[in-house]
Amino acid sequence: METRKLSGKITADAIKSEIVEEVIQLKKQGIVPGLATVLVGEDPASEMYVGSKVKTCRELGMFSELVKMPASTTQEQLMETIEALNNNNDIDGILVQLPLPGQIEENLILEAIRPDKDVDGLHPVNIGKLTKGGTPLAPCTPMGIMEMLARENVEIKGAEAVVVGRSDIVGKPMALLLLHQHATVTICHSRSRNLPEICRRADILVVAVGRPAMITREYIKEGAVVIDVGTNRITSLDQVVELFGPDSPRTESIKKRGSTVVGDVHPLDPYGIASAVTPVPGGVGPLTIAHLMKNTLIACKERRT
Ligand code: GUN
Repeated sequence: METRKLSGKITADAIKSEIVEEVIQLKKQGIVPGLATVLVGEDPASEMYVGSKVKTCRELGMFSELVKMPASTTQEQLMETIEALNNNNDIDGILVQLPLPGQIEENLILEAIRPDKDVDGLHPVNIGKLTKGGTPLAPCTPMGIMEMLARENVEIKGAEAVVVGRSDIVGKPMALLLLHQHATVTICHSRSRNLPEICRRADILVVAVGRPAMITREYIKEGAVVIDVGTNRITSLDQVVELFGPDSPRTESIKKRGSTVVGDVHPLDPYGIASAVTPVPGGVGPLTIAHLMKNTLIACKERRT
């Protein structure tokens, strides 16, 4: 079977050009959608993610505020920052980059963000609305994936969907969104028995477990659509050769940069079995940021127009 590569970038670019048009219209009414990103500490991966959020915001003509706080920040200091952003009329969306340092109680912070500014969709009010089937601000990665499946004409109604991973930010909301669109949904995880057998039932297989190349050919049904949410940085040349073969350009990139990114799905195994697969990088990654911008626009329109 010929396997199609699903480029998240194409869907992300389409979403972003629609946003640009809407931002132009809002500016005519004197409204500039604004996103505040809060980064606590100096984790290099988080700094990179936050940097691309800020850059994309500005590219789309939106206002971006980056609040950087030291790793020693206390719960009270972070609460005060959230409170100020909650009350700032120029800010429509607040995103606190996760994970947070150990001294901070993540749940209390997520609950302190005003639900109508919660562009990550992680406030209990928004999770509740999502569970009931409404269209609140919902987590960006699963929303972006749903948008890509729609634009790529993947049939969801009646399909067997298997979601591997049960995180609050991807696995659980992904399963709910698929369920609301009438898929038969199974959520499984690292402790599920017979994982390959369960995954082989899937017409749509979404994997978000954070284990490099875990999903190999025996997990994939002929003709399945495979969505790989994993972004695992690997640093061993031997592992790259084992996964990609000795002649892959990836061996050059690891020699040059010291690392390379692989998904949760084996980079080669789905080809010839699946009908479509998202590559890593270039698959799901760009969708998350594009949908964050869309959530900021939605929050802005709901609150200010
Ligand atoms: N850390 C990794 N991904 C995300 C995300 O989508 N939102 C937040 N807030 N933190 C993250």
